[in-house]
Amino acid sequence: MHLTLRQLEVFQAVARHLSYTRAAEELHLSQPAVSMQIRQLEETVGLPLFEKLGKKIHLTEAGREVFQYSQGIGQHLREMEEVVEALKGVQGGHLRISVATTANYFATRLLAAFSRRYPDTTFSLDITNRKTLLGQLTNNETDLVIMGKPPDGLDLDATPFMENPLVIIAPADHALAKKKKIPLSALQDESFVVRELESGTRIAMERFFGERGVKLNTGMDMTSNSAIKHAVEAGLGLGIVSIHTLELELEAGRLVVLDVDGFPIQRHWYLVMRHGKRLPPVARAFFDFLMDGDAIRLIRTEAIR
Ligand code: PGA
Repeated sequence: MHLTLRQLEVFQAVARHLSYTRAAEELHLSQPAVSMQIRQLEETVGLPLFEKLGKKIHLTEAGREVFQYSQGIGQHLREMEEVVEALKGVQGGHLRISVATTANYFATRLLAAFSRRYPDTTFSLDITNRKTLLGQLTNNETDLVIMGKPPDGLDLDATPFMENPLVIIAPADHALAKKKKIPLSALQDESFVVRELESGTRIAMERFFGERGVKLNTGMDMTSNSAIKHAVEAGLGLGIVSIHTLELELEAGRLVVLDVDGFPIQRHWYLVMRHGKRLPPVARAFFDFLMDGDAIRLIRTEAIR
């Protein structure tokens, strides 16, 4: 059989989600590219792997068998990679790291500083949403993840390493821009541009206002912090974002942080890995590098200092 590892990887994603669309999102591929890989795998195997009943797809009996074996192959490959990485040591090792959308604002600076300390290391950085990050951890597809606090009960080790305050932003000429100690009740008359439901930012924001019985007008949501900042600048409403997304706009005076009662919402960034995972030396070195305060001092924004 001339099947490829890529076909198996795509097949596993479709089988896990039972959705071509969701698999395409996870793998950063187009849906036709996913369908083509599955068609080719089905041709090689000589049997259909999925069947459509109503609107949903299901694994056929052959699909279930292939899924079980492909998981074993994936696990073996990752173990092989881990053993080889351990033999390489830190110098020459390859770091697999995945970060939440918002952490993108500082992850590259951290990696640049890490590369200066360990010049022969290489890395793959995946920037994705919270749900995909949790899937990657469960399937051992990444060494380390930087994200907000993960949910309990998933057999993960999560270590906080830096604060992540959430603030309310407004255009510099907004009526509330110069006010002090704005009460939460004053926000109920404003429109908000917020992050998508599955983001850590949105979950924390909903919890904060829910606990205080304040209902916000959050009709507009966006999957990107940059899009939110542009929307706020353009006058679409107020925004709620991590302070780490802001530095440039604050310096340039295009946006201001409002002084609202109870704000900033205090959160933390966590380094997360599977419980009991044997980290390759390069990932261990990155972990230690982050826990050592120098790296964090480098990326803390002026606004939190
Ligand atoms: P996010 O960031 O809002 O981009 O998902 C992660 C988090 O804050 O938990």
